[in-house]
Amino acid sequence: MSTLWVGTSWKMNKTLAEGREWASGLRDHLAGAAPEGVQPFVIPSFTATAAVREVLGEDSPVLLGVQNAHWEDAGAWTGEVSVPQAKDAGAQIVEIGHSERREHFGETIETTRLKVSATLHHGLIPLLCIGESAEVKDSGGTSEFILDQAHGALEGLDDQQLSRVVIAYEPIWAIGEQGRPATVEELIEPFAALGEQYTGKVAGLLYGGSVNLDNAADLLGIGHVTGLFVGRTAWQLEGYLELLRIAQTHLAA
Ligand code: PGA
Repeated sequence: MSTLWVGTSWKMNKTLAEGREWASGLRDHLAGAAPEGVQPFVIPSFTATAAVREVLGEDSPVLLGVQNAHWEDAGAWTGEVSVPQAKDAGAQIVEIGHSERREHFGETIETTRLKVSATLHHGLIPLLCIGESAEVKDSGGTSEFILDQAHGALEGLDDQQLSRVVIAYEPIWAIGEQGRPATVEELIEPFAALGEQYTGKVAGLLYGGSVNLDNAADLLGIGHVTGLFVGRTAWQLEGYLELLRIAQTHLAA
């Protein structure tokens, strides 16, 4: 059984104090070791990266990420943060291509490709997010669309580089307040398509979008799914801890 990744992005939420409180609660709960077979990760806002690293400690079993990074190492890119800067602040993961960044901030397949490359170059883990709109889903084009996003971003990587990539499939229609939870049925085909291409080749194939405490176990049961990438349900520490328990139960079954 492959490692189950269970992580959260806080998106544009949490003050430093709130971030520290969440992280210290998790640190104390885990007491130095992640549940067997589970890889926890947390992706705060840039402002909280260093603080969360400090709270978790250098040897934490919890991987720390950033929600975006530029592909250049440094330079005249006002408002941007580079991969070396993210690494310097303690990050080990770079989230790339979340649908909110594609929709509102002009992220393209080309920029996701550049960012995956920069992230690997600096020894961090790219967490590549892909997912289709309701329109694409309704037209029956889901698998083709998400495979295009994945292939475009991962083009040219050798097997070793690919083995460090984590992919999160997050249908846009299932994300956030406006989204509706996907049914297991709806996810079988996209994961079969992704699995055929990437199972055994990448570090993880995660599902994200309205994951909650009622559907998490069923989502983990879908073929090729090796983890969950969660927003709202994990922003309260208790919700996140419950998701870790669900993952453990899934592994034990
Ligand atoms: P959600 O967010 O769990 O709040 O729907 C998921 C995501 O955007 O990754």
